[in-house]
Amino acid sequence: MAGTASAAEPAIAWEPLPGPQTALITCPVFEVFYGGARGGGKTDGMLGEWLSHADLHGANAIGLMIRRERTQLIETIERSKSIYPLIGAQYHEQDKLWRFPNGARLRFAYLERDADADAYQGHSYTRIYIEEIGNFPSPNPIMKLMATLRSGAGVPVGFRATGNPGGPGHHWVKARYIDPAPKGWTMLASEFRNPWTGETVRRDRIYIPSRLQDNRYLGADYVANLQMSGSQELVRAWLEGDWSVVAGSFFPEFSDARHVVQPVALPDHWARFRACDWGSAKPFSVGWYAVSDGCLPQFARGCLVKYREWYGMQPGQPNVGLKLTAEEVGAGVAQRERGEVIEYGVIDPSTFREDGGPSIAERMYLGSGRAASWRPADNTRVAQKGAMGGWDQLRARLKGDEEGRPMIVFFATCTDTIRTLPALQHDPARAEDVDTSSEDHAPDETRYACMSRPYMRNAPKPKPEGPSAMTFDQFLKLTSDEKPRSRYRR
Ligand SMILES: Nc1ncnc2c1ncn2[C@@H]1O[C@H](COP(=O)(O)OP(=O)(O)O)[C@@H](O)[C@H]1O
Ligand SMILES: [Mg+2]
Repeated sequence: MAGTASAAEPAIAWEPLPGPQTALITCPVFEVFYGGARGGGKTDGMLGEWLSHADLHGANAIGLMIRRERTQLIETIERSKSIYPLIGAQYHEQDKLWRFPNGARLRFAYLERDADADAYQGHSYTRIYIEEIGNFPSPNPIMKLMATLRSGAGVPVGFRATGNPGGPGHHWVKARYIDPAPKGWTMLASEFRNPWTGETVRRDRIYIPSRLQDNRYLGADYVANLQMSGSQELVRAWLEGDWSVVAGSFFPEFSDARHVVQPVALPDHWARFRACDWGSAKPFSVGWYAVSDGCLPQFARGCLVKYREWYGMQPGQPNVGLKLTAEEVGAGVAQRERGEVIEYGVIDPSTFREDGGPSIAERMYLGSGRAASWRPADNTRVAQKGAMGGWDQLRARLKGDEEGRPMIVFFATCTDTIRTLPALQHDPARAEDVDTSSEDHAPDETRYACMSRPYMRNAPKPKPEGPSAMTFDQFLKLTSDEKPRSRYRR
């Protein structure tokens, strides 16, 4: 129970949140999938489940906690470092291993390639934890790890996994844990019979849904951040743990009414730049953008106005390229922007590859008579390490500023952008990304343009200092009186 620590009651290092997280800690079922919402307390739940398992079984408790990628694993390790030392556990960096005072051991590892799971053959664990199981495109490595769950000391072994809708493993995770009982809290029993001994073993499975609302440590800020990094549908899937939502348009925020404007003369003094997604057999897309300084009332300050596009498509044949040479495209670019001051051009980084000859970017430059140069675009597609990816940037601009004014608009003459951008679909295997089998050249080019000028909505204005502002002394008092955040036996 939460409360202030007193002399009689030892301070607590961690305690579960009421609701699903508590259910996870106490759940006796062999295989538990704890999931759904982002920020619902999954990572903390896994780390806490281990505390309780280690507490019960001491030196016989042997755990393995897995993530797909090393950088993801580091996040989990960092969080463990703020909890486990409070109960006297020691971390061994080299082996990524926690040793607890009672002898329990928890190891961390990542499995970047499916074959990495083979290294665990023959090991014995009493707990396997898979964090964000949806990052695994196939269940095969997971099933191999599951086979390592056994205990010579008779410890009840268990498998615990977490996940959100929308990863590369979305479909198999959904089929295994969600589809049989979409609302969760339902025991899915299965029995296996050992053909030699005739003995039957039960391997039950359960889905414990977690929701953001169940986590009192996260609030409106976190929801606002999520809303910047996915479509409305996907954000809803994340917030509510709704596994049915991954279909539909990738940019539902795009609307003709808000984002398509009749061409007007733009002031010469506005900064201009261009972006390009190269293609030959498939269309290339070149876009020219001007940056509004706010002097025209219909364009918010900082809004990107895509005032020209050149889409290299066979007339009437969507997604079929013109097969122009790089020199020809370069010449066409220079011809179209004659008389304009173009500050820079960004193009997909792969065009800088040199395969024994000049790169495509260089050939375009030479073809333009050295008039139109390029630099590699930032090709980050989805958010990484807290930084917004290109799709987030484009989405944030489509959503617009605090007053709802769009931060990117398209001249009605940019017909192929207007045709293909709203048609983009979610990648079925990775919902936060675009299905790259769709005609995505103009959107890619627009994404490079957005990444070259990152947009952030203005933070709310700070309250003016005044009699209501806290004094430094009051602030100090506040932080030193702060209750322990959470409690677990120290
Ligand atoms: N039982 C808990 N005690 C203290 N903090 C918690 C607890 N559960 C979650 N949190 C905090 O809430 C935030 C989100 O939880 P986290 O486990 O990272 O969510 P998820 O893994 O589902 O995205 C983190 O800052 C985490 O430390
Ligand atoms: Mg997590």
